[in-house]
Amino acid sequence: MIKYFLIIFTIVAVLVMGIFGFRGRKFRDTPVQIFPDMDVTDKLKSQKPDEFFADGVGSRLPVPGTIVHASDESIYPVEFGEGREGYYFDGKFGDYYGSGMPEELELKPKNAEAFLARGEERYGIYCSVCHGVAGDGNGVTSKYGIVGIANFHAPNYKSDQYPDGRLYDVITNGKGNMGGYGYNIPVRDRWAIVAYVRNMQNAKNIPLKEAAQTK
Ligand code: HEC
Repeated sequence: MIKYFLIIFTIVAVLVMGIFGFRGRKFRDTPVQIFPDMDVTDKLKSQKPDEFFADGVGSRLPVPGTIVHASDESIYPVEFGEGREGYYFDGKFGDYYGSGMPEELELKPKNAEAFLARGEERYGIYCSVCHGVAGDGNGVTSKYGIVGIANFHAPNYKSDQYPDGRLYDVITNGKGNMGGYGYNIPVRDRWAIVAYVRNMQNAKNIPLKEAAQTK
């Protein structure tokens, strides 16, 4: 008995799903909506009339006095450089890692500080959980069992032994137990993080007195 019930139930379920569940085509008539799938929602369509507003227009103008805020994303193209070659995209000159900030960044005295600030912010978001705010490898995750996190103040990570391009490449593709961030962090931000890590390494060697004077 239960066996027949299950068979019939399965057939009916498959039929109902098959007929009403999937709708890939467009058609003129209002569809029979057994599963509405959030088709009907209260929403505004741009460029369409809407009686909700007194002027009957769906598109709204910005509130008077609105100031356009240009974020870094709107000034610089957000690109992830997947599969692209050249120092800017892969940190290499030919087969070797290079050093220095690529010219594509168009760094000038005017925008350098903002670039570094961006790097600090991105480092705080993406790296500090493991590598620590100070870059010493003692981020929160080290307390929860992630071992062997690189300490950027160890001599082998300094710029004379560890090229900028290599640091960039580790951010992009990861290394060993560290995953890559090539799909999350745009190319320009990766370089900003490289600049910030360098800054952090150098800052460690400046006596506090002098550091205070540079500000
Ligand atoms: C989830 C934890 C985690 C995060 C987040 C993380 N790392 Fe790492 N990182 C590691 C671990 C673990 C290693 C050691 C990898 C190994 O040697 O197996 C490492 C190693 C490194 C190394 C040294 C690689 C080498 O050649 O030895 C660099 C450079 C580095 N990370 C940079 C970064 C930067 C920059 C960020 C932020 C974009 C970042 N990491 C985010 C865990 C992390």
